[in-house]
Amino acid sequence: MSNEILTTQPAEKKKIVFSAIQPSGTITLGNYLGALRNWVTMQEEGQYNCIYALADLHTITVRQEPAVMRKNILEAYASILACGIDTEKSVFFIQSHVNAHAQLAWLLNCYTQFGELSRMTQFKDKSAKHADNINAGLFTYPCLMAADILLYQADLVPVGADQKQHLELSRDIAERFNGRYGNVFTVPEGFIPKNGARVMSLQDPTRKMSKSDENVNACVSLLDTPEVIMKKFKRAVTDSEAKVCVGEGKEGVNNLIGIYSAVTGKTAEEITNEFEGKGYGDFKVAVGEAVVEELRPVRERYEQYIKDKAYLEESWRKGAEFADRLAQRTLAKTMKKIGFVGR
Ligand code: TYM
Repeated sequence: MSNEILTTQPAEKKKIVFSAIQPSGTITLGNYLGALRNWVTMQEEGQYNCIYALADLHTITVRQEPAVMRKNILEAYASILACGIDTEKSVFFIQSHVNAHAQLAWLLNCYTQFGELSRMTQFKDKSAKHADNINAGLFTYPCLMAADILLYQADLVPVGADQKQHLELSRDIAERFNGRYGNVFTVPEGFIPKNGARVMSLQDPTRKMSKSDENVNACVSLLDTPEVIMKKFKRAVTDSEAKVCVGEGKEGVNNLIGIYSAVTGKTAEEITNEFEGKGYGDFKVAVGEAVVEELRPVRERYEQYIKDKAYLEESWRKGAEFADRLAQRTLAKTMKKIGFVGR
């Protein structure tokens, strides 16, 4: 399909899907249910041209150990393939391999207001968390994210709910630019799933499940063994009511119902009926087992991919070549519109 994006005429063009994930540590159940599962579904539906990236440039807004960073990138690339991204069907590349991302990000910096960036909740959260390193990259991060999306003229961006604000800013930047220079960028729409868009920490269900959580029991990794997954769900925080239903003040149970629903496709009502008269112990075991089965094939495929570095390198090289050609097209057009003189 990759050639198809470059050659088809506008009238017959499929919609373009773009999304990315930071390779900043182990990939979580939240990443999987909120985004990655939809990346695969959209790839398999066949009605989209899908382009996916590892957003490695984004990760250095927080200090990284070089050796750990290299390992994380390799493992994240293998993990995404293990989730079902197929490089025969989708373009899958590493952001830093395509120079146009950093270049367009600079241009977009100059079309984004200080006030807009100051309102980003992720910036506020991250600067509170890393008070000793509130760097300019952390502040302008959403411009790089807008560049990622706009370079590929993406129509749809599958993400979890936490990226909604960044996506809206990308739309605003695109509209502002188009308003001044004509139709340069497609204005992207977010694609946020009904179930699994905000998976919360198993230890503090008022906070989202996050790769960087210091409490290992808070977060289920895509690569956790079945035993570890079961242990984490058994320890998940609930409440004292002992009734499996959605309700106020029941954030822990609401979260477990959300996860169980996202994995099994059952509604909250069906889940309440299923566990009528049973305690949280039975419920937690059922959620854990459902997650174990969902992730089992991912972990098995991961073990194969991670051993085959030559295959990983060949895949990301191929992805970068396609992505580069697409990205250059948009970058050249954008620079011409602004008034730059070509080489
Ligand atoms: P990142 O790497 O934090 O997360 C990757 C994807 O996983 C989703 N996600 C979640 N969904 C549900 N529950 C959770 N607890 C949860 N945690 C994370 C995120 O919404 C995201 O879809 N800035 C982005 C990466 C990025 C990007 C882009 C995304 C860079 N350029 C362009 C889309 C388009 C980020 O940090 O995601």
